[in-house]
Amino acid sequence: MKKIAVFSSGGDSPGMNACIRAVVRTACYHQLEVMGILHGYDGLINDEFVDLDRKAVANIIQRGGTILKTARSKEFMTLEGRQKAKRNLEKHGIEGVVAIGGDGTFTGAVVFSEICSIPFVGCPGTIDNDLVGTDFTIGYDTAINTVIDAVDKIRDTAESHDRVFIVEVMGRDAGLIALRSGIAVGAEGIMIPETKNDLEKILERLAKSRKDKSSKIIIVAEGDENGGAYKVSEVIKEKFPAFDVRVSILGHIQRGGSPTCMERVNASRMGYEAVNALLAGKKSVMVGVINKQIEFTPFEKAIKHIEELNPELLKMMEILSS
Ligand code: F6P
Repeated sequence: MKKIAVFSSGGDSPGMNACIRAVVRTACYHQLEVMGILHGYDGLINDEFVDLDRKAVANIIQRGGTILKTARSKEFMTLEGRQKAKRNLEKHGIEGVVAIGGDGTFTGAVVFSEICSIPFVGCPGTIDNDLVGTDFTIGYDTAINTVIDAVDKIRDTAESHDRVFIVEVMGRDAGLIALRSGIAVGAEGIMIPETKNDLEKILERLAKSRKDKSSKIIIVAEGDENGGAYKVSEVIKEKFPAFDVRVSILGHIQRGGSPTCMERVNASRMGYEAVNALLAGKKSVMVGVINKQIEFTPFEKAIKHIEELNPELLKMMEILSS
């Protein structure tokens, strides 16, 4: 192998730059040429290839976002688009690709492998943490720290006014941001798509809530089946007219910002191992870190989002928040 490429795709996440840096510098160490593809699969189709060297990735480890830009490509879903992508990879003499992204990225890589034999190795880049085969995806730790920083501030004002705050966090299909950050902020309730009776439980808990706890924080994942923070606030207002209820939607601040230490280290390890995996002949696998050890998971398995959350964590959350 003499030449590889790297790209980021899907929603950006803090730590992607640390991963890109590790890919490029590991490739340089092994005397491989390395190219970056801008705008994910769209750039693969539109021939947005750039040369990268050690210097091109200097001083990016601390930056959020992705220097390679990103996109969710509609064209790559067509066979014609994928054929253009294949031609471009061949034109540039690319013999291996590191794809940084989430389930959409790896689903794309699986479909692409039907027409193109150039090996792809993935690094899990998404704030949602909804991939099988790694304890933490790149971006998750920073995102949950952003959430707890914001909610701690909301708690100050909620406590001063004796208010109930419904805080919506990201997670279109997964409640992992809500669950972990909810535990970390001592939320009085967490609503996630993986559990179906959380609203009833929260209403019960609010009905017998202790008088000495004047503020209440309910964390709602955007993908929760009850329809988001505004809908939940309507239900609570109707049931408890005496409560002073407010809504806060944290939105895309969760996707930005400087990555945490853990994020930078994990992302660096994953980028480094992805290049080593390509050199070792691996393909169609995602690099992950499980119990501190590097593991490789086939793309097909990695994209099977875990439906079951740790029941012990859910139970603990209920006991601690009541
Ligand atoms: O994939 C990560 C994610 O942050 C989801 O949690 C969220 O629903 C989605 O991206 C929002 O993406 P965008 O606004 O970029 O379309």
